[in-house]
Amino acid sequence: MTSDLSPIDTAKYAAARRAVDFVEDGMRVGLGTGSTAEWMVKCLGERVRNEGLRITGVATSKRTAKLAEEVGIKVVSLDEAKWLNLTIDGADEYDHDLNLIKGGGGAHLIEKIVATASDQMIVIADLSKQVDTLGAFPLPVEVIPFGWQTTKSLIEETLVNLDVMGRTVTRRMADGEPFVSDEGNFILDLDLKRIGDARQTSLVLNQIPGVVENGLFIDICDIVVIGAGDGSVELRDLSRGTIDHEPAREGGEENMFVEIDD
Ligand code: 5RP
Repeated sequence: MTSDLSPIDTAKYAAARRAVDFVEDGMRVGLGTGSTAEWMVKCLGERVRNEGLRITGVATSKRTAKLAEEVGIKVVSLDEAKWLNLTIDGADEYDHDLNLIKGGGGAHLIEKIVATASDQMIVIADLSKQVDTLGAFPLPVEVIPFGWQTTKSLIEETLVNLDVMGRTVTRRMADGEPFVSDEGNFILDLDLKRIGDARQTSLVLNQIPGVVENGLFIDICDIVVIGAGDGSVELRDLSRGTIDHEPAREGGEENMFVEIDD
């Protein structure tokens, strides 16, 4: 139950719960990956079960697909859905223009494809993800395993000419083994500290052979829902130019946690 949640989980839950209000009957919805997105999938599943909401989900990772099916959301491939009304996903950083760094969970390739194939992308986050300038969070870059060390060297050479403060590139590991994405690729984490020109950085990185996709999401996100530890939320809508604050909501969550967390 939310009363048992830590402030950070309360913030994630509050953002997720508010974001699923944007989902309407009949929509095709992109389902993000990560701990905040998991709350969103659970909240959406609750609406499917309780309200009979009919939606089709496109998952951005195997783990999200599994959770979505567990909570009763119909999951199809992007090619079956073709185009999505909305994608809701987490982020590792967002700036004032709602440009993002994503890929902390290693799913940014599919997340970017799915978000780009959507009329609207809503990011759910807490205030700790907000930055003036992107780059404190290491930028994930997905590369194919073939010749990955050569690709890494090419990235390092390229960074010399980019407006960034750090230039350390590390292959992501998981449990002592190289991390492998759902698509069978490696992730290189670029500790850039401060990315002066995120658009240029994204374009230049994606031109390097062996690079599949980087975690910069430029001009893709439309709305960010920021949850707080007291359960209140802030909604920033880029196209409307609005910022709205809403107090914590009461009740409704107990059923969801009993059914899913047990
Ligand atoms: C996965 C992502 C996640 O959305 C991002 O890492 C945020 O995760 P969390 O909500 O757990 O902080 O980009 O690739």
